Amino acid sequence: MNTLFAANWKMHKTRAEANQTARDLVRLVSALPAGREALLIPPFTAIDATLHGLGGASGFQVGAQDFYPAAHGAFTGEVSPAMLLDAGARWALTGHSERRHVIGESDAFVGQKTAFGLAQGLGVILCVGETMEERKAGQLKDVLIRQMEQGLQNVPQDISPERLCLAYEPVWAIGTGLVAGPEEILEAHALVRRLLEGILGSGARSVRILYGGSVKPDNASEIIALDNVEGVLVGGASLKADDFSRIVLA
Ligand code: G3P
Repeated sequence: MNTLFAANWKMHKTRAEANQTARDLVRLVSALPAGREALLIPPFTAIDATLHGLGGASGFQVGAQDFYPAAHGAFTGEVSPAMLLDAGARWALTGHSERRHVIGESDAFVGQKTAFGLAQGLGVILCVGETMEERKAGQLKDVLIRQMEQGLQNVPQDISPERLCLAYEPVWAIGTGLVAGPEEILEAHALVRRLLEGILGSGARSVRILYGGSVKPDNASEIIALDNVEGVLVGGASLKADDFSRIVLA
């Protein structure tokens, strides 16, 4: 499996800005190194413009930051997986820390979304991670068990690793500049790997586990070299093509 470099642009970028950043990124990266792929995750409104900016560049895909677990219906303000696929998105995030702690999504709802998105043909990146309070209380394992058991509750055991990723994003590292240390990443990713195999069976051995939380150009190469790290999910440092290109080429 390729190492996945994902850019979560959150609530940033107009269509023109997204298009320009995508074009700049393709120019700066020119060709992705072998064994690497990139995923740009703009706001819904800029999916099309981002795709146009990428211009079909090899190894680059576009994803979405969320979706509603229904095919269609009276869900004002929501977007379905089919609509995202129609718009050209091939992946979507579920369980992102901001969906859990800002919007208030439950573990069960995250699990509903994950299973439905996969069933509808999206690739899904299920995000998990603990708060600083939970870490200090020694609850890392409990939190990951809870989030993964509920997040993967209806995911088929034979799900292709081409379609499912996990992202370990310690909440205390997101947007803070306080990146998790190697030992912290090794411990959490090893636990996620064990839980993945416990829940989905040995076939999950190839499911990629991304690290997210203050990934920057100067720490990316060290992070992706760690055991059980098969990519990164980058927020702030992905907003500028120059920064994200340095991460992708790290
Ligand atoms: O989804 C990735 C994001 O939450 C990480 O944000 O700014 O710490 O890279 P940042």
